[in-house]
Amino acid sequence: ALITSFSKKLIAWHGLHGRAGLPWQNNLDPYAVWVSEIMLQQTQVATVLERYPRFMKRFPTVKQLAAASMDEVMAEWAGLGYYSRARNLHACAVQVVERFAGKFPNDPVLLEQLKGIGRSTAGAIAAFAFHVRAPILDANVKRVLARIFAIEDPIEEKAVNDRLWNLAGELLPSQAKDMPTYTQALMDFGATWCTSRGPVCLSNNHQCPFSKDCQANLSDQVLILPRKRIK
Ligand code: ADE
Repeated sequence: ALITSFSKKLIAWHGLHGRAGLPWQNNLDPYAVWVSEIMLQQTQVATVLERYPRFMKRFPTVKQLAAASMDEVMAEWAGLGYYSRARNLHACAVQVVERFAGKFPNDPVLLEQLKGIGRSTAGAIAAFAFHVRAPILDANVKRVLARIFAIEDPIEEKAVNDRLWNLAGELLPSQAKDMPTYTQALMDFGATWCTSRGPVCLSNNHQCPFSKDCQANLSDQVLILPRKRIK
C-alpha cells in the first residue's frame, strides 16, 4: 500500500517541512533548471544561493552560454569547485544549440546524452522543467529507498541499482503536474530528514511520515542501511 501512498505522503511532508522559495524553484525555463541542478550537484545550497543569480545574469540563455569562451565560463565558475562541471556546462550548451536549436529536449533519454547530465539529473530536469514523470535517484534518494524498503544488499551492486531505479519509477505521483513538487520533496527529505547519520526517526520517531512504513525503522536498521560493499 505504501507504493500508492508514498508520493502523497511525501508531498504533504514537503508542504510542512520542505524547502521553498529557492530561486531555481517554480521555474519552467529548462536552461535555468539545468544550471541550478549542475551547480547543486556538488555545491551547498547556501553557496548556490550566492552564486546562481550572478551566473544567470552573466549568461541569461543557453545560446549566450554556448557563444561564450571557455575562459569566460571558467571565470564565472571560479570558487565553485569541481571544474569539470564548468567544462561540461559549456560543452552541453554548445550541444543544445547544435542539436536542438537552443531548446532543451523534454525526454530524459535525450537529456542524458548531453555532456555532464547523468540519468538522475536528466530526470530532475525533465520533472522540474517539463512535468515529465521521470524518476531521480541520487545518493540521498538511494538512502531513503534502501531504508524504507529494507534493501540489505550493497547499493553498488548492479541488481540493487536496477531495483532502486524500478522502485523510484513505481513511486512517482500519477499526475504529471505533481512532478516538480514531488521531485523537490524527495530531494529535501533525503537531504534534511532521512540523513545518513542523524535521521529524524532516531530522535523523534513519530515525526517521520514513514515511521510506520519504513522497514529499516521498524527493524532498527536505519543506521546500517544503505549497506556498502566491503572493500
Ligand atoms: N540538489 C540537487 N538538486 C537540488 C534541488 N533542486 N534543490 C536542493 N538541492 C538540490
